[in-house]
Amino acid sequence: MTEAILLVGGKGTRLRPLTVNTPKPMVPAAGVPFLTHQLARARAAGIDHVVLATSYLAEVFEPYFGDGSSLGLRLEYVTEEEPLGTGGAIRNVASRLDSGPDEPVLIFNGDILTGLDIGALVATHEAEGADVSLHLTRVEDPRAFGLVPTDSTGRVTAFLEKPQTPEEIVTDQINAGAYVFRRSVIDTIPAGRPVSVERETFPGLLLSGAHLQGMVDSTYWLDLGTPQAFVRGSADLVLGRAPSPAVPGRCGDRLVLETASVAPGAKLTGGTVIGEGAVIGEGARIDGSTVLAGAVVEDEAVISDSLIGAGARIGARSVLDGAVIGDGARVGADNELRAGVRIWCEAVLPDASVRFSSDQ
Ligand code: GDD
Ligand code: MG
Repeated sequence: MTEAILLVGGKGTRLRPLTVNTPKPMVPAAGVPFLTHQLARARAAGIDHVVLATSYLAEVFEPYFGDGSSLGLRLEYVTEEEPLGTGGAIRNVASRLDSGPDEPVLIFNGDILTGLDIGALVATHEAEGADVSLHLTRVEDPRAFGLVPTDSTGRVTAFLEKPQTPEEIVTDQINAGAYVFRRSVIDTIPAGRPVSVERETFPGLLLSGAHLQGMVDSTYWLDLGTPQAFVRGSADLVLGRAPSPAVPGRCGDRLVLETASVAPGAKLTGGTVIGEGAVIGEGARIDGSTVLAGAVVEDEAVISDSLIGAGARIGARSVLDGAVIGDGARVGADNELRAGVRIWCEAVLPDASVRFSSDQ
């Protein structure tokens, strides 16, 4: 298998109000646009041709990744005029594939960080002679995902996208967002209209008796759908828990990009990333967080599990825990921001204006 389709379009992103100019796949994770990790992992698995299927902000991908040669890939870009859904997006790029009808094609969601053994998924696909093979993972609460029960041989028996009722929760195995399709199956998806691969294609294939094979792989897996998950994923890349050939430098407790400036007495731990040109003040303590390019963290600020947007400023002694600070926002000194708080892009919070009560 040498070809892949990467899905990076759709409704947009929950990160967007917080990172105005950057679509989610381009927000740096461990110092490089997140998409780089997925592309580098595909390359390492032997893929040399990737078609990027997108429907929004397409113009930001091409200037950065170009023809893909810096990653050893041949990259093509296809932009939908209107979002075609996951299945429609796959069908829409079928003409760009060079694979023969029986050859396997890798397809993956653009918002997943995983250590999936891509080669093992292909091997399973070929050994089983499947029409489609799906990477499955187990999660505690499967409701936000596609549920994929299998029989004792791993053959998929149903596909239930985002179950609504308790009766529908028949398994904790979910669609992890990476598939191997037999090329000819892609050509059976209807063209020219929106199609959901999860709600239409997979259930339809099962009804028609097609062979869908599941491969449960309990390696690292994270859906980066929320800013919080994004920060976690970035830290796990730096720590080496999530494997990627694209992490710049060696894995360790922190990643400081070359042009950043960190005071000698600042403490950076837990996979913290300090972006280009960012400035970290004396005595600041930052754990498990991502500080994007050009942001400033003043002296003795204490930050954990947070995302600090590009060009944002965090005032001295402020405490942030599980916070997301939009690009260009200013948080004054001596604030306390916790528990999922979101500060909008460019918003200004004066000195000493928020604290959390310990009364309850
Ligand atoms: N080109 C294009 N066009 N891409 C799309 C479109 C579209 O219209 N709609 C969605 N995508 C891309 C998204 O960018 C994402 O990379 C992927 O397809 C999945 O779409 P999401 O909107 O992120 O879906 P989800 O997270 O709710 O659910 C999907 O992922 C889960 C795993 O994280 C489903 O595949 C679930 O079954 C799965 O469990
Ligand atoms: Mg998603």
